Amino acid sequence: MLQILCLTLCGLLMGTRADPGAVLRLGLDILNYEVQSAMEESHILEKMAAEAGKKQPGVKLIKGLSNMKVKDVLVPVITLNFVPGVGIFQCVSTGMTITGKSFTGASMEIIVVLNITATNRLLQDNETGIPMFKSEGCEITLGSVKTNLPSNMLPKVIRKFLDSTLHKVLPGLMCPAIDAVLVYVNKKWVNMNDAMPVGQMGTIKYALTASPATTASHIQVDFSPVVQPQKGKAIQLMDEGEAPEFPEGLAEGSSQLLLSATFLTAELALLQKFLNANIQDKMIGELPPQTTETLAGFIPKVAEAYPKSKPLVTQIRIKKPPKVTMEPGRSLLHLHGTLEMFAVWRRGKTPVSLFLLEIHFSLNIQYSVHENRLQMATSLGRLLSLSPGSSSVGKFNAKELTTFITDYLQEAYIPMVNDALQVGFPLPDLLAINYNLAELDIEENALVLDLKLD
Ligand SMILES: *[C@@H]1O[C@H](CO)[C@@H](O)[C@H](O)[C@H]1NC(C)=O
Ligand SMILES: *[C@@H]1O[C@H](CO)[C@@H](O)[C@H](O)[C@H]1NC(C)=O
Repeated sequence: MLQILCLTLCGLLMGTRADPGAVLRLGLDILNYEVQSAMEESHILEKMAAEAGKKQPGVKLIKGLSNMKVKDVLVPVITLNFVPGVGIFQCVSTGMTITGKSFTGASMEIIVVLNITATNRLLQDNETGIPMFKSEGCEITLGSVKTNLPSNMLPKVIRKFLDSTLHKVLPGLMCPAIDAVLVYVNKKWVNMNDAMPVGQMGTIKYALTASPATTASHIQVDFSPVVQPQKGKAIQLMDEGEAPEFPEGLAEGSSQLLLSATFLTAELALLQKFLNANIQDKMIGELPPQTTETLAGFIPKVAEAYPKSKPLVTQIRIKKPPKVTMEPGRSLLHLHGTLEMFAVWRRGKTPVSLFLLEIHFSLNIQYSVHENRLQMATSLGRLLSLSPGSSSVGKFNAKELTTFITDYLQEAYIPMVNDALQVGFPLPDLLAINYNLAELDIEENALVLDLKLD
């Protein structure tokens, strides 16, 4: 019984600790920006003012006041706060000038300052699973009320005006503004379930692991990314056990995206085929001519087999999916494969294999973001192992080739890897987040993008 309980519980615990692939933390900086720009995009202020100018049905005229109109709506100040487990508490502080004529015929102005408050509950759309905000409990709190009426006739008229009119009119007028703004914010989640292309190689889809969770400092969105090659089955993310963590000491209210090393490894698996190369140029960068003569300088037996110099062709085949490793400040890409060299006897004839080497080498990865895609550029790290496979020129010590192969990889092969990597990897598309200004940090088993607003 206990064992069963443990199996269930431990499973659950393990489940929550498993590598999530990608995690987005939305802080107040991004959410403020989103709400503010939704406010602008929705032109809600203009609409509110226009609406306010209209006659409100069901509102009794107040004795002694006529021609009432809303003249200006103040630019609202929006304050947001997280409500753990619920969503965001939103307060919109604004004000307006109401004009009219008093019973004496004098023109009157009332300046009201008020707050509209509501809780924007974070839900998931039942059909699409896409997160959405829904406002609840909208309330209007009146702040100061000022008028130009003579003070002796003020209290009664104003109190009546406030009670019977503002309290009835304002919620109907202002609360839809909160909903209208949310419509715009909600629209910016809808693309997040789309599969995004990685060139012709496949697609990445940032599927949600669970519904986003609101904490006291951020909304956390956990993704289980689906890495789908053009053909065949989705690439599974290796479960490395321990989930990578966000670094300590991040600025309050800031937002981050964490991409785990296992996720980046899965993304690079899409490129495996594209890392194979057939190189037949004679002159490459700073390298000596690619001929059997040059090679004979390292393996004398080549000169015996090829007394007359012949051009070389090199074939590199990556045999295992590439693997990304990360420790603070440093990220490597490990490639395992074969390097086979051929001699070209004559143009148009099938080249003859000289030898095949099993190689394992690492590349240093530099990360950047360009046009909202994660970019990687590499340079040679180390040749980690070099062992002989087949050979048509007899036995030789593969170690003799270390310098030759190292230079070769650096000059001839790495540029091809970098070309393949130029495709870039899409980042989660939601809330129109701009990743281009992010500061990138390599942490233990994860890349962390500290998001910056313009
Ligand atoms: C989703 O379904 C639940 C229960 O079936 C319902 O209470 C809730 O209102 C629905 N939510 C939305 C956003 O439609
Ligand atoms: C309106 O909201 C602001 C900001 O949260 C607060 O400072 C102010 O006291 C509120 N005013 C009223 C009348 O509730």
